[in-house]
Amino acid sequence: MTANTAPRADMPNDLDSFWMPFTANRSFKKNPRIIARAKDMHYYTPEGRAVLDGTAGLWCANAGHNRPKIVEAIQAQAAELDFAPTFQFGHPKVFQLASRVAALAPEGLDHVFFANSGSEAVDSALKIALAYHNVRGEGQRTRLIGRERGYHGVGFGGISVGGMSPNRKFFGALLAGVDHLPHTYNREHQAFTKGEPQWGAHLADELERIVALHDASTIAAIIVEPMAGSTGVLPPPVGYLQRLRAICDKYGLLLIFDEVITGFGRLGAPFAAERFGVTPDMICFAKGITSGSVPMGGVIVRKGIYDAFMKGPEHAIEFFHGYTYSGHPLAAAAGLATLDLYAEEGLFARAKTMEPVWAEAVHGLKGLPNVLDIRTIGLVAAIDLASKPDAVGKRAFDALNHAFFEGGLMLRTAGDALVLTPPLVISEAEIGEVVEKTAQAIRAVA
Ligand SMILES: Cc1ncc(COP(=O)(O)O)c(C=O)c1O
Repeated sequence: MTANTAPRADMPNDLDSFWMPFTANRSFKKNPRIIARAKDMHYYTPEGRAVLDGTAGLWCANAGHNRPKIVEAIQAQAAELDFAPTFQFGHPKVFQLASRVAALAPEGLDHVFFANSGSEAVDSALKIALAYHNVRGEGQRTRLIGRERGYHGVGFGGISVGGMSPNRKFFGALLAGVDHLPHTYNREHQAFTKGEPQWGAHLADELERIVALHDASTIAAIIVEPMAGSTGVLPPPVGYLQRLRAICDKYGLLLIFDEVITGFGRLGAPFAAERFGVTPDMICFAKGITSGSVPMGGVIVRKGIYDAFMKGPEHAIEFFHGYTYSGHPLAAAAGLATLDLYAEEGLFARAKTMEPVWAEAVHGLKGLPNVLDIRTIGLVAAIDLASKPDAVGKRAFDALNHAFFEGGLMLRTAGDALVLTPPLVISEAEIGEVVEKTAQAIRAVA
């Protein structure tokens, strides 16, 4: 049986029990978008209809889907060692993977703490920041600074520093002592930019204002996505991240980059830190580490942070944090195979080479009905559509449905923005196909 002739038995017979995450459940269950299989650049419905993957799943399948090297590594690992604890014990591949991840990170970031998702990676980084100041005798540094429109997952730490109000407003008081930088988007100054906008570096100076308000001695860390993704793709203004770094250095604040979506090649470099030439104190990662094949996340930290914890009696645990599945053998095996594949196929460099082709093609959508702005960077694009009166998000949602059912394209939405983030293996012809199918969807919802 080929990939696109699946039996109908793959179709679930009852959609009711599964409470779907971040989904319009009632709409989905009336008109389900079911994916049964995947291969390389495509998904396949249970009927065998091919759907071009314009989103790398959820920004994770950077190497494309079901790559044999990764599949075989997972299969072999399941047969050899299904699980071993990483609390007080260890297994070989988790150490190998930590070294490999550290080798990809900017110089000086050389210790890796593993988690199972982006949300856990963020909560781990925030806890490391608080505990780091504590073990250094600066336990009064408890404030955390995030940014408006930031997305840092859905844990209480992540939504507290995050800045997307629907993700926050239902969930009570959140963490105390959190403040937010302003977001960096301004359509008037930035519309239809390829790469980083020229306008907006000065917005980093708002950190000075926040420091003046709270005093640096009370602030532990700043966390930002180097390129805001989930809110609808906001590349950083030229020089903005450098300014944040300089202010953090001036006041002894830790700078955390949440690279859950920008890590592993999305912007044409192993990490956005390298692309933008700014080294944070910690990097959160997830998704692309295993190309989405097995859940995994983690935090890469500067040596000085790790070292600060390495004191006291040697039999004593230094950091009271971790997850049962931190560095799970299947995830570690998948991660090693994925990093091999990225290296063998030069996929990070490929993303860089394809960036101008991608940008040119996507910006060709300018002028279509309702298109208000287009932003591209790396292999990422967002197309802002005008909202329908009194129905924010409806036009983009209709476009998503049209693309899936009529065009055979998976795209994502953020409000009324359409967001495209294909696997890094995408060909020039497939870029053309993604853009053409997106154009059809935009016209269909005009
Ligand atoms: C920047 C960022 N941080 C954290 C997360 C949360 O990751 P997860 O859904 O794996 O918890 C995401 C997810 O998209 C993300 O984009």
